[in-house]
Amino acid sequence: MSAQPQATAGSTRKAVTLPTLLEMKKNQEKIAMLTCYDACFASVLDASGVDVLLIGDSLGMVLAGMPSTLPVTMDMMEYHTRCVAAGNKNAFVVADMPFGSYQESVEQAYRNAAKLMAAGANMVKLEGTAWLAPTVEYLTTRDIPVCAHLGLTPQSVSALGGYRVQGRDAKAAKTLKTNAKAMQEAGAQMVLFELIPGKLAADISKSLSVPTIGIGAGVDCDGQVLVLHDMLNVFPGKKPKFVRNFMDNQPSIQAAVQAYVSAVKDKSFPTAEHTF
Ligand code: KIV
Repeated sequence: MSAQPQATAGSTRKAVTLPTLLEMKKNQEKIAMLTCYDACFASVLDASGVDVLLIGDSLGMVLAGMPSTLPVTMDMMEYHTRCVAAGNKNAFVVADMPFGSYQESVEQAYRNAAKLMAAGANMVKLEGTAWLAPTVEYLTTRDIPVCAHLGLTPQSVSALGGYRVQGRDAKAAKTLKTNAKAMQEAGAQMVLFELIPGKLAADISKSLSVPTIGIGAGVDCDGQVLVLHDMLNVFPGKKPKFVRNFMDNQPSIQAAVQAYVSAVKDKSFPTAEHTF
């Protein structure tokens, strides 16, 4: 197979590290992140200038046809993290900790986070609110970088009663802001907001010193993420409001990914039509 993507800015850049991401926030350069689950796409995304590759537990739904992310296992996450790390050269790699792999105790969280780091992750992502602060502190003081996923947290879909926009009223907005601060104070080096009002995400992003990444959270986060198969328009079914089909008018997957990176960097994505 001759699947080497064409050389682009992505293949000549330096490795994206935690300090790089902090510097990007300081310099107001937007961070482009996409989900990625295998070596081939990792190579294409890296060469196309994607800053951060996320091995999301969305792989359960996207690759395995599961009804939610809840059945995703540590074995699945370790395997796909290894695949992505094998194909990637310079992008920063974040791996999701699956449902049930960190909620029990800080020791359980460390044991499983260490497996993902050994598989090639540069950071792990956890879903949760204030209860998660001791876990974030435990991991980060032991040199495992953490991204805290707030807002709509798909692993809590049963408790939340569906995939709904979070933080809409004043009380919920205040709680979200407090939780984001608590995550940063506990040591989280990145905060990801899913499905929250754009104005709220803008306000919280301004108040934090660590980079924020949004999905359905407006243009004013420090970066954006989408599920790869959504933005390439290959995931079947109705597309969420916050997704744009980047394959539109593009001759190849690499061109579509480059269009996404450009649109994130020049803030032409997301627009008001993708925002709550
Ligand atoms: O699992 C995933 O793909 C995610 C994104 C939706 C942010 O967490």
